[in-house]
This record gives sequence, structure tokens and C-alpha cells, in this order.
Amino acid sequence: MSKNNETFWEEMFTYYAQIKNPSQEDIVALLREIQEAIGCIPKTFQERAATCMKTSPVLISTIIKKYPSLKEESFQHEIRVCTGPCCTSKGSLEIQKELQNLLHIETNQVTKDQRIYLTTQCCMKHCKKGPNLMINGKVFHGLTKERVIELLQDLPPLSFL
Ligand code: FES
Repeated sequence: MSKNNETFWEEMFTYYAQIKNPSQEDIVALLREIQEAIGCIPKTFQERAATCMKTSPVLISTIIKKYPSLKEESFQHEIRVCTGPCCTSKGSLEIQKELQNLLHIETNQVTKDQRIYLTTQCCMKHCKKGPNLMINGKVFHGLTKERVIELLQDLPPLSFL
């Protein structure tokens, strides 16, 4: 099953959620699996790991910092496409596909230049204005493929280039 498939992640998190009183080793094992699939452990996945392991995102972040082999976010911009029912009925899945094509990645992956991380969110609470997406926490409404290209072009380049 593809690691970019939400079912893959649901199965993984369900598996780890069954562990009673998870140890730090269990948490590290889950974090390693996330990193293996994505290349780093983005905030959204830290939050999911915390819920799954019945702990806080702060502890998850502390564990990541403690293990040099584990990496937090290693990208500059996060793009979240809304995959809630209203937005999908207005074409957000086509927007998601367009972004995958433009960035040459699947969802829940980071671009080769480590610049952009593409992910999804189920509803951003702006259903009437969809299809919506969020860039670095800011929501953009009524998206079209043309508008997505403009938004990508407006993103600042890597700071070290
Ligand atoms: S479904 Fe997209 S904002 Fe609610």
C-alpha cells in the first residue's frame, strides 16, 4: 500500500494506538516509520503521533530533538489542501492533483529542494468559500488551477539561495 495513501497512515496509527502504556522506544519506532515515509517528521504528524501515543506534542518534539537521527520539519513552506466534503465537491481533489504534478511529489511529501511540504486537512471551517487551501497557516479561498500556480510563484525562494 502506498505511503501516501491516508489508509496506510490510518492503519499505522491504529496499530501503534493499540500499545498499552507505550514506552519511549515505541514512540521512537513510530517516529522512525513516519520519517522513513516522508523524509522528516512534520508538525501535523507530530500531532497525530502524540494523539496516537496518548502523550503531548511537546514530548514528541522533545524526543525528536533528543535523537540526532530524527528530523523535524525540513522544509520552508507547508501547503495544506482541504479535503473536507464541501471542498472536494468543489474540486479540491483536482487542485491537490495539480499541486502534486507541479511540485513532482505525492501528498505528504517534501519537494526535492526541501522547499515545500504538501499535505491535506479535512475541513478548514471555511466551507462556503471552497475549494480552500492553506499556505503556512493562511487560508486561500475559491481556488482554481491558475490561482494555485500564482500562489506557488509568490512563495519566497529558499533563504540560503
Ligand atoms: S470542507 Fe473545506 S473548509 Fe470545510
